[in-house]
Formats: sequence, C-alpha cells, structure tokens
Amino acid sequence: MLYNILVHAHSGLRWLLLILLLAAIAVAFSKWRSRDEYAASDNKLYVFAMVLTHIQLLIGLILYFLSPKVDFGMMSEKIYRFYTAEHTVGMLIAIALITVGRVRSRKAANAVDKHRHVFVFYGLGLLVILLSIPWPFRIPGAGWF
Ligand code: HEM
Repeated sequence: MLYNILVHAHSGLRWLLLILLLAAIAVAFSKWRSRDEYAASDNKLYVFAMVLTHIQLLIGLILYFLSPKVDFGMMSEKIYRFYTAEHTVGMLIAIALITVGRVRSRKAANAVDKHRHVFVFYGLGLLVILLSIPWPFRIPGAGWF
C-alpha cells in the first residue's frame, strides 16, 4: 500500500541524499579554498542535492499524516516523540538551511562566494540531518534502508 511504498522510498532516498550532500560539500570546499571557477556541473550538483531534500520533505509531509508513529497523544513515549516532533523539526531546519544556502549561492556575485555559501549551509544542514535520522541504534524499529 501507499504507506509502505512511501516509507521505503523515504528511507532509501536518505542514502542518495547523504551521498549528494557529501559530494556537494567536498566540491564546494575544495573550489572555495582553491578559488576555482563555478562550473555548470557544480551548479547541477548543488541544485540536485537541494531538490532531493525537497523530495524528502514532500514524502515526509505525506507520511506525517499516514504514519502510526506520529501521534500527539503519545508524546511521552520516545519513539512517538521522535517522529512527531524531533525528526520533523530537525529536518525542517536542515532543509531550510540548505535552501537558504542554495539561494545565497545563486545570488552571490563571484565564484568564491558561491562555493563558500554551499559549503557552510549544506555542511550545517548535513550535520542536522545526521542528528535527526532515525538510525537503528538510536530508534528501535527503524531500518537501515
Ligand atoms: C532530509 C530530510 C529527511 C530525511 C533524510 C529523512 C529520513 C527518514 C528516515 C531514514 C526514516 C526512517 C524510515 C525507516 O524506519 O525505515 C524516516 C521516517 C519518517 N520521516 Fe523522515 N526524513 C526527512 C524529512 C522528513 C520530514 C520533513 C518529515 C515530516 C514533515 C518526515 C517525516 C517522517 C515520518 C513521519 C517518518 C516515520 C515513517 C514511519 O515509519 O511510519 N521526514 N525519515
């Protein structure tokens, strides 16, 4: 059913998102420090990483209404509190950071600033994402994929 498909998509896409964010951050750091140009392929990588956070946001919003793990009446229990509040708020902050970083990068006047904004904002976003993912060793019942 739809719920199962969405949970698996949302869960699996985390890996693609983590890889893209790491790639974007690594490219942004090296090109910022070496004062390299802003290539079309950099732009694609930075946009694609942000778009994937927005796809996760869309799937997550739908899951918020479908998931039995989202329940305001059960917030005294760790797992419910995690999905109802912590995961969602953390990811919203991370997605906002990454979106702001992309917009600042797009508007920046020179290549060095474009790469620097991506490095700083995507880096902060990645940290918040890593802290907000339901890793199986932290959240009982969560999966690796
Ligand atoms: C960067 C963004 C996000 C990432 C990487 C992410 C990742 C994940 C992962 C890995 C799971 C666990 C799936 C499993 O147990 O196999 C999950 C579950 C969930 N996520 Fe997200 N998430 C993101 C954003 C969001 C947002 C913005 C929302 C809500 C608006 C959301 C709502 C949920 C819900 C409700 C579940 C529980 C689904 C269930 O097992 O019933 N997520 N997320």
